[in-house]
Amino acid sequence: MKALVYQGPGKKDWIEKSKPTVQKPTDVIVRITKTTICGTDLHILKGDTPEVPEGLTLGHEGIGIVEEVGDAVKNFNKGDQVLISCITSCGACPNCKRQLYAHCNDGGWILGHLIDGTQAEYVRIPHGDNSLYPIPEGADEEALVMLSDIMPTGFEIGVQYGHVKPGDTIAIVGAGPVGMSVLLTAQFYSPGRIIMVDMDENRLAAATKFGATHTLQVGKDDVVGEIMALTDGLGVDVAIEAVGVPATFDTCQKIVSAGGSVANVGVHGKPVELHIEDLWIKNINISMGLVNTNTTPMLLKTLQSGKVDPAQLVTHRFKLDDILDAYEVFANAAREKAMKVVISA
Ligand SMILES: NC(=O)c1ccc[n+]([C@@H]2O[C@H](COP(=O)([O-])OP(=O)(O)OC[C@H]3O[C@@H](n4cnc5c(N)ncnc54)[C@H](O)[C@@H]3O)[C@@H](O)[C@H]2O)c1
Ligand SMILES: [Zn+2]
Ligand SMILES: [Zn+2]
Repeated sequence: MKALVYQGPGKKDWIEKSKPTVQKPTDVIVRITKTTICGTDLHILKGDTPEVPEGLTLGHEGIGIVEEVGDAVKNFNKGDQVLISCITSCGACPNCKRQLYAHCNDGGWILGHLIDGTQAEYVRIPHGDNSLYPIPEGADEEALVMLSDIMPTGFEIGVQYGHVKPGDTIAIVGAGPVGMSVLLTAQFYSPGRIIMVDMDENRLAAATKFGATHTLQVGKDDVVGEIMALTDGLGVDVAIEAVGVPATFDTCQKIVSAGGSVANVGVHGKPVELHIEDLWIKNINISMGLVNTNTTPMLLKTLQSGKVDPAQLVTHRFKLDDILDAYEVFANAAREKAMKVVISA
């Protein structure tokens, strides 16, 4: 089969590789029908994650059709259409028992990280019963691909951890696919005002279409000053960081109101300065974490009922054989006006 393989920092190729086989009775082999590329895949290619071995197939998102199941798999059969979670979980260890699937003793984020991932014709999913979800009849396939990672990430780590409430003023710093997923899922709770912050004018325009009430452009607007003016000097109820650099975390700690929350979603590679000398007195919460994907069943229902439409995030489409072109577009997202690419078999 063909697979997109990491070959060390800066190097990748679409090459022939042997098809995965059932290794444990709980494994499911899935034939990929649609996959996508995540910002995290670009981080891996830059060499930011040295634990990723050379020769690994990248990708942790996608949907497909069950090709083969191990003897212990109960929930799936050959031919079933499935959504792949970016988080693999056994469902039985102490962390899984409290829905902390990101920290499963025999899983977590391993796909396209420690074991071969989804940017291939076939993928092996360990603990298939708990790591795959049946696709509801008639569901929009492109929308479903957004449910492998970005939608649960935005919802769980941004909206739930940030305790977004009806009427709140919230600010989302970073209008990439993850920030946009925060924007879409925050609206389940009817916040009063949603301020989107980014430097990319095109992404801010898209944010307005998806429900942002205000947009602020880094490099042009005085972001902190305007947010304070907009909130009568109080700050926002929830400040959500969706970039992963010190500057954006700093913005969030400057704009959070007394009693508010800072929800950090971005993956950080450098330390940030925590201004505890200003924050200790403000009765705030600061949260952060890796997505658990425990809300995937709920998100599937909202998708089916039309409460949310993550297919809006798809800007480009490719065939699996042209995945290198998809990488070229996604890696130059601002130039290409790209948000999420869908790659189909
Ligand atoms: N916590 C988790 O479980 C989890 C899961 C998936 C992704 N992530 C992380 O979420 C973050 C966002 O992911 P993404 O795919 O949307 O990334 P992305 O790179 O596509 O988007 C980031 C956005 O931030 C903007 N930006 C960059 N610098 C900025 C600045 N100084 N101020 C304002 N905006 C700025 C960019 O223009 C871009 O639109 C990444 O760090 C990613 O690794 C976390
Ligand atoms: Zn991802
Ligand atoms: Zn577990």
